[in-house]
Amino acid sequence: MLLQIPDLLTPDQVREARRLLADAPWADGRDSAGPQARTVKLNQQLPHDCDAARAIRSMVLAGVERHPLILSAALPKKIFTPRVNRYGGDTPFYGEHVDNAIRFTADGTRVRTDVSCTVFLADPDEYDGGELTVQDTYGNRGVKLPAGHAVLYPGTSIHQVTPVTRGWRLACFFWIESMVRSDEQRRLLFDLDMSLMRLRDRHGETDEAVSLTGTYHNLLRMWADT
Ligand code: NI
Repeated sequence: MLLQIPDLLTPDQVREARRLLADAPWADGRDSAGPQARTVKLNQQLPHDCDAARAIRSMVLAGVERHPLILSAALPKKIFTPRVNRYGGDTPFYGEHVDNAIRFTADGTRVRTDVSCTVFLADPDEYDGGELTVQDTYGNRGVKLPAGHAVLYPGTSIHQVTPVTRGWRLACFFWIESMVRSDEQRRLLFDLDMSLMRLRDRHGETDEAVSLTGTYHNLLRMWADT
């Protein structure tokens, strides 16, 4: 499932992130890539411990915590330290690859990369190219969203960032280990949750809504690993 998450960051937060990024200490993006990805990756990223990276990731993590759509779609168990990156100039792309299945945080915690999330920090008219394209069941899908918006896609998918030919593409990305490992099961739970929300919007609290909510939680209980 590929899902757009509007307004993960507010316009004020985007402005603050951009201010921080104006003189940030960019480093070679290959530092964090696995052996296959290394051969196709050419971008820049911020060291985890710089001020800009710290401030932006705390904004993004707070955004995740307050966004019902991302919580419902990803059912997060753990989140890998968000990274900030940029594409442009001599470092314009990240060719087709699949992310490593397991990531280690600085303190050695393992995070399984079930769901990937990219938060856009530049508007589409600031750069040419730089589309995130994700291969899913229906072929390649390209995504390029306004600053502050995010996209979720399965960690299992082959994906790339196409070459930036003008300007800079700025983004923050991270992986989520979900309580529900299967993309298919997460999708069913998400669809059920969204339908329940619309049912309540339209008809208020009904016996049927209560019963379906029970079904949702019983499925979650059966599938979730906490
Ligand atoms: Ni990737």
